[in-house]
Amino acid sequence: MKVSIIGGGGRVGSCAAAALQCGGVVDEIALLDLNGEAAEGEALDLLHGSALAADQRIRAVDYAEVVDSDVVVITAGLRREADESRLALINRNVDLFAKIIASLKTYRLKDEAIILVVSNPVDILTRLAVERSGRCPDRTIGLGTVLDSARFSSLIAAEMKLSPTQVKAMILGEHGDSMVPIWSAATVNGFPLTTWPGMTQGLQNELFKRTQSSGAEVIRRKGGAGWAVGLSIREVVECIALDRRRVLTISSAQSGAYGAHKTCLSVPTILGRRGVIKRIEMELWPKELSGIRASAGALDETYRQVAG
Ligand code: 2OP
Repeated sequence: MKVSIIGGGGRVGSCAAAALQCGGVVDEIALLDLNGEAAEGEALDLLHGSALAADQRIRAVDYAEVVDSDVVVITAGLRREADESRLALINRNVDLFAKIIASLKTYRLKDEAIILVVSNPVDILTRLAVERSGRCPDRTIGLGTVLDSARFSSLIAAEMKLSPTQVKAMILGEHGDSMVPIWSAATVNGFPLTTWPGMTQGLQNELFKRTQSSGAEVIRRKGGAGWAVGLSIREVVECIALDRRRVLTISSAQSGAYGAHKTCLSVPTILGRRGVIKRIEMELWPKELSGIRASAGALDETYRQVAG
């Protein structure tokens, strides 16, 4: 399977490429970037390690060589400032993003290819991609809160001294300020975390606050996310490549789940080789439900301002 990363010369794109190289599942990793030298440099650096990693083709490409991709990951975009909300970033990224979607249309990306939007604000840009590309909404998706769910699970595990891979805790809604922690379904090896020894309401609030501010904290400390978002992108891409049908909290255009129509936000979603298989409207606590509805409302309002 061939994966092209538009923005592959940047931090997020190159970390995604490194994660895919270490995963060894995809056959080809193609990097495209406005900064061609950066894409060439990242491809060369990755290629240097391929003898120790996997039998993959890794190279820098232009749009003409993106068209035969099975998955196109879009990480291109300006990073937000530490004190800037993702939505505030939108005006700086919409024009750049519209040009990328137009290029993919011009070069006629194959119909069965899947577009994975990572650029922020990811839910708004995913909806722009769906509505401006005219592509199938089940194959035009966003990373959504996959990174937030990974951060949430990892921070809970670190605090409770549990095995990170056994902690499953989801964030739903917007990849942004209105994201919603789903404690009703948070488990460690199948046991509910809300009743786990040592877990208190105060600790739950603290762990969610840390998750919610993780993006800004990483920007403040090192300029922007890389490793965890790269692994999150790999989780989605390899789920597609292997038709794993995992339940992931990716962002996609809703058709009624939690009352959302056309809004792109994260709900539990079964994902496979041909994209979204099913969006699951799981039963949630009342406050979780109202949180997701508030998320959808905030995203709809912003989209109205952006898309006109
Ligand atoms: C973050 O939360 C990159 O938006 C991403 O760090």
